[in-house]
Amino acid sequence: MRKYNLAFVLSVFVLGQLFAQATEIPQIGSEAPSFTAMSTNGEVNFPSDYGKSWKILFSHPKDFTPVCSSEILELAYAQESFEELGAQLLVLSTDILEQHNSWKASLEQLHYKGREPVKIEFPLISDNDLVVSKKYGMIHNSESTKKNIRGVYIIDPHNEIRAIYFYPNEVGRNVDEVKRTLLALQTTYANNSVVTPANWQQGDDVIVPVLSQSEKNSIGLPDSDLYKLTWYMVFKKDD
Ligand code: BEZ
Repeated sequence: MRKYNLAFVLSVFVLGQLFAQATEIPQIGSEAPSFTAMSTNGEVNFPSDYGKSWKILFSHPKDFTPVCSSEILELAYAQESFEELGAQLLVLSTDILEQHNSWKASLEQLHYKGREPVKIEFPLISDNDLVVSKKYGMIHNSESTKKNIRGVYIIDPHNEIRAIYFYPNEVGRNVDEVKRTLLALQTTYANNSVVTPANWQQGDDVIVPVLSQSEKNSIGLPDSDLYKLTWYMVFKKDD
């Protein structure tokens, strides 16, 4: 009887661990999980297909739904600008590939917000077996146990996850905010001694959180690009 109880407790623990692992959200700064999956552009091998690009992985709950459709269309209208920033887009849901293909064909016919129809160049990945969704913590049981949350994962050229955010089913994401976050990440990636303040936009001044002695001495000098608001807030002019 005792033996039976121990085996039962152990199996509940092991199952619990497996479930916890399967739904864990990767951490900022961790390596983006690799995967191979089928998409509307053929097989995707992540990250090896993407070289030294930035990568933005979007998950969405369901094809042929209005909010998801609006998001994919806005991404398609913005896809060239992401490419110019050295970023590649990937979209993933748990729908089957046939569904992705017919949704894509339908979206490409639409005059969304009065604009000309747009070709969707990025892959719509099918994760029908939920393998990728679980690796990335895209299944949030309060919304659905089979469909993904609206997730955004910004991944740097070294395949490190640099930003993650989630939106509920009811709220479509803002493509300009994704681009703003990418630009901020690229700015701090290029110069890791600076950080970006709230509402930062490309061209705005940045913050220097830690100053060397020579930087401290230069504040306020006529040719310095540093200026102090208070002792704990020093800005660097955009160059
Ligand atoms: C939508 O994209 O419109 C949607 C998706 C899942 C649940 C509710 C709405």
